[in-house]
Order: sequence, then structure tokens, then C-alpha cells
Amino acid sequence: MTRENLEHTAVPDRQTLEWHEGDMPYSQEFGDHFYCREDGRLECGHVFLGGNGLPERWQQPGPFRIGELGFGTGLNFCETWRQRTERRVEGGTLHFVSFERFPMQAGDLDRALSRWPEIDRERQALVAGWPEQPRGHVDIDFGGAMRLTVVCGLALDEIARFPEAFDAWYLDGFAPRRNPDMWSEDLMRLVYTKTAEGGTFATYAAAGFVRRNLQAAGFMVERRPGFGAKREMLCGVKSTSGVA
Ligand SMILES: C[S@@+](CC[C@H](N)C(=O)[O-])C[C@H]1O[C@@H](n2cnc3c(N)ncnc32)[C@H](O)[C@@H]1O
Repeated sequence: MTRENLEHTAVPDRQTLEWHEGDMPYSQEFGDHFYCREDGRLECGHVFLGGNGLPERWQQPGPFRIGELGFGTGLNFCETWRQRTERRVEGGTLHFVSFERFPMQAGDLDRALSRWPEIDRERQALVAGWPEQPRGHVDIDFGGAMRLTVVCGLALDEIARFPEAFDAWYLDGFAPRRNPDMWSEDLMRLVYTKTAEGGTFATYAAAGFVRRNLQAAGFMVERRPGFGAKREMLCGVKSTSGVA
């Protein structure tokens, strides 16, 4: 049986959501929530922006590309956009590219993101631009040098086909023991290949096999304090010169 067949056997071709505590989406297939239950928006700032040295790195002019494993509700995208606007970054562009196997419906994005009034503007723009049947490449140019592409499909296949490399990665699969495909050695090697020299990654995950796969791929990996109740998170850099 091929890898693709195996994956399709393990998980059906769509994701069934449950809603916990009113507006907290939960994946029945993966048995996990989409972000931490304390505050997913603050977690995003601590883990994904902080772990990648953002927003500070945006002070450099020119294009900046973020790659994400797992678009989910779009919370990381909206919070990243909000921080960029707040920082009044001028002269650069941000292309946020997210790889997602099971894109949600607009109504579900809206329901989940409505929890945070801080990202109202970003949520409304995302939901307004979201297609009724997301498939292929969902490409939305929001103006103001902000562009979103959600690539629908298996991350391993789609990243290999994607023509560009990224300056920063948000590694945001479900918990490693529930969604091991999103943390495999093959995928981490591919992420490394599609990282620009000096580019970085960050993840809330701290499992030993995830750290080892990232190191084996070539990243210099650092452990940092995690968000909220999580003791540790991981971040790192691609440096072929060996100097971080
Ligand atoms: C923890 S959630 C991501 C949360 C998201 N970043 C947010 O801001 O809401 C993980 C996502 O990875 C997706 N996923 C799981 N396995 C995948 C795979 N093999 N390829 C692509 N996406 C996958 C799931 O459908 C889910 O949306």
C-alpha cells in the first residue's frame, strides 16, 4: 500500500468538527483542539511570532514569506496580519502560505475567530474573501502588501510542488502523537529544503522525535519556555555556515 493510501485509510477525506465551550473547534478525526484552550491568539504571538523573531525581522525591507503547516481556522494568519499592521511595517510585502488538508467552511472560520475582538477586521476580510468550496490554491490579495495562499492537500505532496522557499515556518500540526504525518522526518527534511538561508521555524511542540527530526533535517534547534502550561517549545534556524 502506498503512503497516500495509508493516510487515506487512517483518516477520511474531510474533517468533522465538534464545538467545545461554545466557540472552540475540535477535530473528531484527530481527537484534538486547533489551539490551546487558554488563549490561542496569545499562544500564536508567543510561539509562532516570537519563535521566529517577528515582528522585529520585518523591519528589513523587501518580500517576506511565511510557510505554515495547517491553516485550520486561520487564527495564526489573522494574528500575524494584526501584528504586522500594529507595527506599521512599511516597504515590505508579506506572503503567508499555509498547507491544509481539510480546509474549513467560511462559517466555521467565522465562528471560531469571533472569539477574539482584537482580530475582527482580519476575520471579516478573510471570511469575505474565502471561497464557498475551497480547493486547489486559495489565493487572496488583501492589498497593503498582504497576500494569503492556502494550498489544499497533503502537506508532503504540496510543499514539494511549491516553487518558493520561506523565511519563517509555523509548524502547527495537531499534537505529534495524534498527527505524526505532520512531524515526520520526510516532512521536516522537505521543510528544511524549502527554507531560505538564515530562515527559521517555530512550533509549540516539544516531543523528542520532533526535535530529532528537525535536527536530522539540518536545523539548529533551540528549546524555549512554552506558552501557558506548556513547559517547552522549539524554534530554530537554517544556517549552512554553522553560525546561528
Ligand atoms: C492544529 S491545526 C492548525 C491550527 C491553525 N494553524 C489555526 O491557526 O487555526 C492542524 C491543521 O493541520 C491540518 N492537517 C493535518 N494533517 C495534515 C496533512 N497531512 N497535510 C496538511 N494539513 C494537515 C488539519 O486539518 C488542521 O487544520
